[in-house]
This record gives sequence, structure tokens and C-alpha cells, in this order.
Amino acid sequence: MAETTHRFLLACRRQPVDRIPVWMMRQAGRYQPSYRAVRQKVGFLELCRSPELIAQVTASPIDEFGFDAAILFSDILIHLPAMGLDLSFEKGEKGKGDGGPRIANPVRTRADVDALRIPDPDRDLPYVRDGIRAIRSALRDRVPLIGFVGGPFTVASYAVEGGSQGFTRLKTLLYAEPQAAHALFEKLTRAAVVQLQAQVAAGAQAVQIFESWLGELGREDLEEFCFPYLARIAEAVRPTGVPRILFSTGTSTHLEKLAGLGYDVLSVDWRIPMDEARARARGVALQGNLDSTLLLGPRQKLLERTQALLRAAGPQPGYIFNLGHGIQPPTPPENVKAVVDAVHAFTWK
Ligand code: CP3
Repeated sequence: MAETTHRFLLACRRQPVDRIPVWMMRQAGRYQPSYRAVRQKVGFLELCRSPELIAQVTASPIDEFGFDAAILFSDILIHLPAMGLDLSFEKGEKGKGDGGPRIANPVRTRADVDALRIPDPDRDLPYVRDGIRAIRSALRDRVPLIGFVGGPFTVASYAVEGGSQGFTRLKTLLYAEPQAAHALFEKLTRAAVVQLQAQVAAGAQAVQIFESWLGELGREDLEEFCFPYLARIAEAVRPTGVPRILFSTGTSTHLEKLAGLGYDVLSVDWRIPMDEARARARGVALQGNLDSTLLLGPRQKLLERTQALLRAAGPQPGYIFNLGHGIQPPTPPENVKAVVDAVHAFTWK
């Protein structure tokens, strides 16, 4: 299929589509038996560093469920070791799935910020480049490939807290040492831009910024510490010509502001009705926003809400079906398939 006729890319550009495109954040992951089988054999970071396994894991949900886009299998923290941070993923409790990220030497002082290096993607992250090339050849242009990075605030929360430990240390840094915080966001912004440029050069056909925890901040702090950096990332990627998607949660209050940051698509969480989001976010396409908990069942409720969301999104071009956040590990795969099929069956006629 020619690049411009992929329904996902058309929707990103607010052009008409034959069917509503659908993909899901975390569509490659622990809810899939095939993913769990790979993870029996290799650790999470080992998986993220193997181009062959990246390609296999990224392509499997396309073959299995018929999604309209693939997303690079990697992590928003993958570049932190190259910046000088000692990243690992904890094993997690037995029977409770896997643990979260841990950073042994978190960023706490201005000196820590100054010591951070900007990664060189070709030297430091060759497996991402080679993984993207391997994915593109595994996909054979059936669907486009989305690259991604984490947003500066979300990545900073892990870098400063040392793991998934809340936001108090980072927010205190903003208030107590705003210049150190700006220096940190500056470095994370540069790191995001070079990675996105390298991903597109390797073959990514769209990019998404995962600024998942943006909703932790109020408007004043967003304006000072986040929006300028997010706008810079959008602007820096513009010359590549690929659609840029900004994902965040807890940010419905700021939709008009987010729509003005220069992105092509906003990915919104489940807290806002899609018709309201469409009315408020002018000049951008929207992606979202089914509550991922619905995928746990019951099936009838899941399909009712899927239909309701498709109707709320409305017939005007520029809508991509997705979840409000990622797929949860206990999701039955057959529910994922049922949603993809329902979205593809939907028409306004
Ligand atoms: O959407 C995708 O499937 C693309 C791949 C992807 C992963 N993580 C794979 C992953 C993406 C885009 C991410 C983003 C990410 N990583 C975010 C922001 C996204 C979000 O959820 O809003 C964050 C905060 C991280 C950091 C991270 N990685 C955490 C906190 C964890 C542990 C929590 C968890 O879900 O296990 C991870 C691990 C991780 N990243 C897994 C996957 C599939 C599970 C790892 C495993 O197999 O054990």
C-alpha cells in the first residue's frame, strides 16, 4: 500500500478514510501469550536491545488482531543508560507480573543534571535503528510504523524519583531549583529530538510523544516547565514530514492549549467525552479514548462503549480509535480482536 493511502496516516492528517483506523497503546505486551513466551526467555531490557525480537514482538499484534499501525517495541527510558543513569527493571513479585523501572543513581542536584550526556542514537541505541529496519521489513508496508519517545516531564519523573515513586521530588525541584529543572528538561528535550530524528531516518512513519504524567501539574507549571519543551519537540520533528502525536493523561482541562503546541494529533485519555474533545481541540486530529478497563469485559458492555465512542467521535475526518491509556495485562486477547473488528465494521452509512 502506498504511504499516503494508509488509513492511519490519512487520519493523522485529517483526510477521509475508508474505515476508522485503530491501534492500541501497549498492543504488544503481557496480555499476549506469545509475548509472555518471549519474556520467559529474555529480560525486558534484553528484549528492547534485540532487533530480531523487537521486530517479532512489534509485528505480532498486527498479524494477530489486524491493527492499522504498529508501534516500535522499546521503552521511554531506553536512552537513560546512555545519559549516565543506571537503569534496571525489577523482577516484580511472583505471580504478580513484572516490576517497574529502577534508577540506582537518580538525578537530585544541579551537578547531577550537568553530568547527564545527550545520547548519540547511532552509537548508543543501534538496536533501535536496526529494530526499526527489521520491523519495516517484517511489516512489508501492510501498516505504518510509529516511533516514540517519552516526554521530558514524564522521563524526568523516573530520572529524579529513581522509579515509579510519584512526583514529589520532581515537583519540589521545580519550585526549589527552577533553573536546575529547566536544565534537566532542556537535556531531556534534546535527547528526545535526536532519538525521534534517528527513528524517522531509520523508517518510523509517525511519532508519538508519551507525556503520560503531564496531568500531575497545574496550568502555571505546565506553561513554565512543559509546554515550551513539547512545542520545541514538535517543531524540531516538523521537517521530517511525519505526523506527530502527543499523548498525555489527566490533561482534559488544557485541551485547547495542547492543541496549540504544534502536534498533528492529540491522544486523549478516557476522562473526557470524545465529542467534547473534538469540539474543543481545533485544528488537530484526535486519538483515543476507550477506558482500557472495559477490555477486561463484560463483552457486551465493551462493544456498547466501543459503538458509543465511534459515534461520539463523529463523521468528520481526523479520528483514530485507541484506548485512553495502555492495554492492561489481564486483558483477554479475544476482547482486543472484538474491538478491532467492531471499529473496522463501523460506517456512517
Ligand atoms: O505502546 C507500546 O506497546 C510501545 C512500547 C512501550 C512500552 N512502554 C513497553 C513496555 C511504550 C511506548 C512504553 C512507554 C512507557 N514506558 C511509559 C509511558 C507510557 C504509559 O504507560 O503511559 C512509561 C512510564 C514507561 C516506563 C515503564 N516501562 C514502566 C513504568 C514499566 C513498568 C510498568 C509495566 O507496565 O510493566 C515499563 C515496562 C514495560 N514497558 C513493559 C512493556 C511491554 C512491561 C515489561 C515486561 O514485559 O515486563
